[in-house]
Amino acid sequence: MARNPSIVRAVMPNAHFPTTRMRRNRRTPWSRRLIAENTLSAADFIWPIFVVEGARKRVPVSSMPNVERLSVDLAVMAAEDAASHGIPVIALFPYTDPALRSENGDEALNPENLVCKAVRAIKKSVPQIGVLCDVALDPYTSHGHDGLLRDGEIVNDATLELLAKQALVQAQAGCDIIAPSDMMDGRVGVIRQALDAKALSHVQIMAYSAKYASGFYGPFRDAVGSTSALKGDKRSYQMDSANGDEALREAELDIAEGADMIMVKPGMPYLDIVQRIKQTFRVPTFAYQVSGEYSMIMAACQNGWLDPDKVILESLMAFKRAGADGILTYFAMDAAKRLKTMG
Ligand code: PBG
Repeated sequence: MARNPSIVRAVMPNAHFPTTRMRRNRRTPWSRRLIAENTLSAADFIWPIFVVEGARKRVPVSSMPNVERLSVDLAVMAAEDAASHGIPVIALFPYTDPALRSENGDEALNPENLVCKAVRAIKKSVPQIGVLCDVALDPYTSHGHDGLLRDGEIVNDATLELLAKQALVQAQAGCDIIAPSDMMDGRVGVIRQALDAKALSHVQIMAYSAKYASGFYGPFRDAVGSTSALKGDKRSYQMDSANGDEALREAELDIAEGADMIMVKPGMPYLDIVQRIKQTFRVPTFAYQVSGEYSMIMAACQNGWLDPDKVILESLMAFKRAGADGILTYFAMDAAKRLKTMG
């Protein structure tokens, strides 16, 4: 019902200062906890991990302080650590050897590729954690695009066949959540059919429905080694930051095609999209606090301009307030540890 302030005042003549004092509820820590509308817990987080070939290998990502590419053995240990801190899901991103990148991204379909090896190793040692894999060709193409490049165009329908196969290979390796991040039209439906046809109907799909062509992906592309590879930009398939209604159409189509969960990406600059999708469709809705958002916060903290003890959890709470059911964030482990010590 519409709340007309003058009506409220007529019914409740004292509903204003000094009878009403908003600060009363904020006075003590226990009261602030009591009235909190939103909470953060480790169960809200998906932790992305970059994997690299080799053993006992850690390679720092220069544009992402405290983030490292890990060899599979160390990724397994990281997954154990994540599980013990209550993080429900990790997301795996491979750094592909440039020698394995090709025009058509064939390595994406190799059941023995790095990401599949990582999935198998993690599901064997840490079966209680969920594993999510991106579906898109960009870690594997020599041109750095998410789809097939023909005469200067990213071709949609021919790419779909490859994406369906890539999803199958990952699901057969044991991946629990397939996350198409390629923004081709029709990909969710094709992937759902391919999984169902191979008795993989239990595998979930988290669709990156609203994925914007964003400058905030810069550090990620360094981490997976696709920065120098990328020719041109991704604006013919990723969304324009000017658009909001279009994100609702994307989400609607993906839900109709069988998406179990929806992802919005990037995160903080697109909280309006998170809120609109959640309010419109009432489906599990997630946000990706992407590499550039992470690096901005970390860079400011390293300069002493921001206090990590204050801003990291504050940045994550913003997603919960906007209605997100969870957040894919490079801060996941850090935040889970902070929440644990706060009790
Ligand atoms: C690949 C992909 C990207 C990200 C996740 N999956 C980059 C891109 O689309 O170019 C970016 C994530 C981040 O910046 O943290 N399709």
